[in-house]
Amino acid sequence: MDHFDYVNGVMHVEQVPMAEIAQAVGTPVYIYSTATLTRHVNVFRDALAQLDDPLIAFAVKANPNGAVLATLAKLGLGADVVSGGELLRAIAAGIPASRIVFSGVGKTAEEMRLALEHGIFQFNLESEPEADMLSEVAMSMGKTAPVAYRINPDVDAGTHAKISTGKSENKFGIPYDRALESYAVARDLPGLDVQGVAVHIGSQLTDLTPLEAAFTKVGALIEQLRAAGHSIRTADLGGGLGVPYDPSLPIPPLPAVYGEMVTRITKGWNVRLMFEPGRVIVGNAGALLSRVVRVKQGAQAPFVIVDAAMNDLMRPSLYDAWHDIRAVVPVGRRETANVVGPVCETGDTFAMHRDMDVVQAGDLVAFMTAGAYGATMAGTYNSRPLTPEVLVSGDKWAVVRARPPIEALIEGDSIPDWVRD
Ligand code: LLP
Repeated sequence: MDHFDYVNGVMHVEQVPMAEIAQAVGTPVYIYSTATLTRHVNVFRDALAQLDDPLIAFAVKANPNGAVLATLAKLGLGADVVSGGELLRAIAAGIPASRIVFSGVGKTAEEMRLALEHGIFQFNLESEPEADMLSEVAMSMGKTAPVAYRINPDVDAGTHAKISTGKSENKFGIPYDRALESYAVARDLPGLDVQGVAVHIGSQLTDLTPLEAAFTKVGALIEQLRAAGHSIRTADLGGGLGVPYDPSLPIPPLPAVYGEMVTRITKGWNVRLMFEPGRVIVGNAGALLSRVVRVKQGAQAPFVIVDAAMNDLMRPSLYDAWHDIRAVVPVGRRETANVVGPVCETGDTFAMHRDMDVVQAGDLVAFMTAGAYGATMAGTYNSRPLTPEVLVSGDKWAVVRARPPIEALIEGDSIPDWVRD
């Protein structure tokens, strides 16, 4: 559920007409709803109400905007970070280090040092060489690093190949079958406190079966590790719960159903459970607002050319992802059209042969469910400045990231004298 609704035939974000934001900030622009963020945090938290003090660590990569993170911090969320940059953004937004977990296969010694200085809750290690490096860094600082190993359960998440992470051929985690050896090695390394197990098998999961299979494997491993003398106190079950993008498809399992499954599978584990939801918190809380530049006749269907492009919202070109595209002021007629951006690549296509509201030059359209992996993956390809972001709350709204002037791109480069001469 979200708070992007039509009031008298005009799309609003909470109480703010979308057109008001387009008028003031220009397009394209990302717009987030505080009420939707809050609702999703509450729904996710309620789904886990049977668990004892779970740590919900928002996957910062899904939306690292400072105002979004500060909203989530106020609601008590922690953060799952995958770089020194994300760590610093989470802390700057008010997320305490005691609620931060550090994931990722390529943490550098410098990033480890930073996280140790801040005293984060847990490092999720993804290989034995990484354990060696963290041990050295921790020792050099006279600190002890709380760690879990992320295990690769060799489970097919049944999602897009590019966002599937739990198969043995993927780069993530340590092989399940070698886990006992890896834990034994880590236990003997100075400067590490082995406290937990972690798993994350992929994103936009629309079926709970693979998650249940992965969690069952984690449960079995916890038993084996305890039998081998390890003191396992945490289990991080990752993120991955899908959200509805295409209204014609069945909706993915609701957080409540996920929560029931987790509560059932983890019964008796006797650990503090951790979660790393990203998309399910922010996905439906954001839309990308864009203006139609012109409509051009096509061989089969008209091309609706909008002022947003693949650099602003990469998901359709990268994963063939489906985003609902709605007219901000629908005229009440529909047609089949192709929606494309201005970038000089065929891949700069948001939708082909889409049944959608009839729109014409100057109209506003909203790309729905763009709050997760939208602005955060934007770039400046075709020398298009990064997309601005706006946060709405009730009848209030604020620019939470301004559109950089084109001069910033030009002045960001420096031209050596010997090139000019
Ligand atoms: N934890 C870890 C270790 C992750 O790698 C991810 C996402 C998450 C948590 C959060 O997953 P979520 O709850 O958001 O599914 N750019 C892609 C998604 C990439 C996901 C990467 N990892 C997309 O636009 O679909």
